Amino acid sequence: MEKRYGPYAWREYELARILAIGYLFLSLGHLVLSQTTFERNSVPHAPMGWNSWNSFANIVNSEIVQQQAKAMATNGMKEGGYEYVVIDEGWWLGERDSAGNIVVNPKQWPALSPGQKDGDMSNIAAYIHSLGLKAGIYTDAGRDGCSMYPDSGPKYMNTGSEGHYEQDFLQFSKWGFDYVKVDWCGGAKEKRSGAVQYAEVARAIQRAQETTGRPLFFSICEWGSQNPWFWAPGVGGIESTVWRTGGDIIPPVVESLHDPEHDKRVITLQNVLDSFDTGMHPEAQHTGYYNDLDMMVMGMRGMSDSMDRIHMGLWAIASAPLMVGSDLTRLSPAALSLLTNKEALAIHNDSYALQPVKVAEPTAGVQVWAKPMAVAGRRAVAILNRTDAAVHVNVDWGKLGLDGVPQSARDVWSGREIAADSVFSVPAHDLELLWVAGQDKEAAEYVATKSEINGIQATSGPTFARLKYMNTSGRGLIIRARSSSGLSTAFALPPTAESTAGTFGLILPHGTADLSFDAPPGAIRNLLVYSW
Ligand code: GLA
Repeated sequence: MEKRYGPYAWREYELARILAIGYLFLSLGHLVLSQTTFERNSVPHAPMGWNSWNSFANIVNSEIVQQQAKAMATNGMKEGGYEYVVIDEGWWLGERDSAGNIVVNPKQWPALSPGQKDGDMSNIAAYIHSLGLKAGIYTDAGRDGCSMYPDSGPKYMNTGSEGHYEQDFLQFSKWGFDYVKVDWCGGAKEKRSGAVQYAEVARAIQRAQETTGRPLFFSICEWGSQNPWFWAPGVGGIESTVWRTGGDIIPPVVESLHDPEHDKRVITLQNVLDSFDTGMHPEAQHTGYYNDLDMMVMGMRGMSDSMDRIHMGLWAIASAPLMVGSDLTRLSPAALSLLTNKEALAIHNDSYALQPVKVAEPTAGVQVWAKPMAVAGRRAVAILNRTDAAVHVNVDWGKLGLDGVPQSARDVWSGREIAADSVFSVPAHDLELLWVAGQDKEAAEYVATKSEINGIQATSGPTFARLKYMNTSGRGLIIRARSSSGLSTAFALPPTAESTAGTFGLILPHGTADLSFDAPPGAIRNLLVYSW
């Protein structure tokens, strides 16, 4: 069978998806509904770094990873906050020793310093750490991994972790890895429930963390096939995670293969826009839990400077993982400057970390997206022009929940102050990204009774709200929130001081009237609802 990417895989597993969702609703109670507390040990913003797959596919090896890590440490990305160097598929070929331990090719992963042994993954993890970066690795939740559908070369079976969750995740952590991406080729082939398998993986990861004392960030990669935005937040009690919302933006483009199949792969703007469009699940995303729009393709074949701007602007405003899949040694200065743009990264790393909502589409394909930020009155605004013609756009600030014209506005790309009441010109196939500071319209306040907030009026489409809560446990508090309008998600509420309530940003679905929480008494104080 040929390797399938994204949407094709979806169709194939449609039946499994329907069965799994049914199963999920029956079993959620056992998975994540109970109120539990956990250490806050993970990155507050969505992870940033590099992943080997898009540009090196299954030819990845120690030398390539060292070069990429070195590039990231020296080209300004590390200073910008990019930290993970993630080794994707192809690092092992499914071989285990008699005790079930993963065996790797000593030539692919040789010793890099005196005293190290060939064929030990700690070598590369230590190298990455020596540059002040963090190391990531990859496996599959099923028995077989995606190497059974190779992008090039022979196929290898048994590259998944099923049956070895405890052993493998502990091993990754002992080798020194800080991040693990868990794919779904085997899980899909076996028609498993993602919610069940990934909860088991999450628990194995947490046990590994407890044993080694090293945080292991969990990246779920089941391509959105079983609606992970409903179950991935808090799955298995994990306090921070990302989940892929769709298939791959593109199959890999390995320039060094000079292979006719790879040579004809060209990224289009539509590929990037499709990933963004399928990845918008704003009700599921809160500090620590992120929709993953896929690895970035900045500067890769087919990408122009304006496409890169659209790509960076959309991923930043969506607070999506910024895992760059390009060859970092070949990035153009323009692509690098977008990736390290301080204002764009500040929008990405806003502590509420919400996704934007579409507030206007004055003409088909010309869209205004706005994201509420943690500081009152702050917004990030993307004016996305998907069309072939330049456009001039007036922003109606009232639709962004602002009272009047913002006092201050900045063009993110140039860093310059601009007049908020100007008409914004956006060239064909381009994106204007703005940071604005204004005055929020007055909020409606709803006080919590026990663990419920009733009578909410969220009638004007997706609605921004701030939850006020107390969590004096000194640790993160994971609670589940539900509404009659279809909200079903988990929040990881950061600890608060003894006397000061914390606030937490969320987007309520249209029509939300009642919210209920699995939270300890007194934890939820009130909800401020901003009508946009
Ligand atoms: C899937 C994932 C990709 C990559 C490849 C490796 O397609 O979605 O991100 O990990 O597998 O085969």
